[in-house]
Amino acid sequence: MDLFEAINNRCSIRKFEGTPVPREDIEKMLATAIRAPSGANSQPWRFVVIENKALLANLRKAVEDKLAEITTWDEAKGLESKVEAYARYFTFFDQAPVVITVFGCEAPSVISSIMAAHGQPRKINSAKQSCGAAIQNLLLAAEALGYGACWMTGPTIADKAIEKLVGVGEEWFLVALIPIGKPKENPHSRSRKELSEVVEYR
Ligand SMILES: Cc1cc2nc3c(=O)[nH]c(=O)nc-3n(C[C@H](O)[C@H](O)[C@H](O)COP(=O)(O)O)c2cc1C
Repeated sequence: MDLFEAINNRCSIRKFEGTPVPREDIEKMLATAIRAPSGANSQPWRFVVIENKALLANLRKAVEDKLAEITTWDEAKGLESKVEAYARYFTFFDQAPVVITVFGCEAPSVISSIMAAHGQPRKINSAKQSCGAAIQNLLLAAEALGYGACWMTGPTIADKAIEKLVGVGEEWFLVALIPIGKPKENPHSRSRKELSEVVEYR
């Protein structure tokens, strides 16, 4: 598949067939993910591939529990139905045959460390941008191989619980969950703003 075709055809998939994803295809997607650029080639990413249904159910429960907790907070008063509406978009990942959990670790550059120590922390976050690049590569590889996927940061509301359940070291923080499988839906492509709205030439 041509690169532009993969980019233009890709859309978020939230319903999956149960058919397992062969390990060879998972490896191909991950090998493509790690070809992404990263700040100073720090490669601040780690991927944990989860196929275990019991573990996925536990991850989902952690997200549901967190959503339920948030609903009880004073700050959520009057917003309960909106919080509830998010639930569907935060929890469907356990229906996919495989979920790739993406973790990042901070690797601040010398300059960033000096600037932060001087009270001028930079707004950009190199590790998170690098992980984002890897995730987009992964999504495009999934598309090229005929799979559907969804980049999900919603579940990171339960990041501490998920990091514990997956069992990664303390230096790793949860960046996203990527459920992957053969698509069981064919959604309309979501619109984008016009180029003229988002691009300026100077
Ligand atoms: C950083 C990021 C986080 C996202 N988190 C979620 C999520 O938690 N749940 C979800 O259903 N979709 C999530 N999405 C998918 C977006 O909703 C989707 O990309 C957007 O609506 C455009 O649709 P498309 O991907 O089909 O083009 C996320 C996408 C990005 C890039």
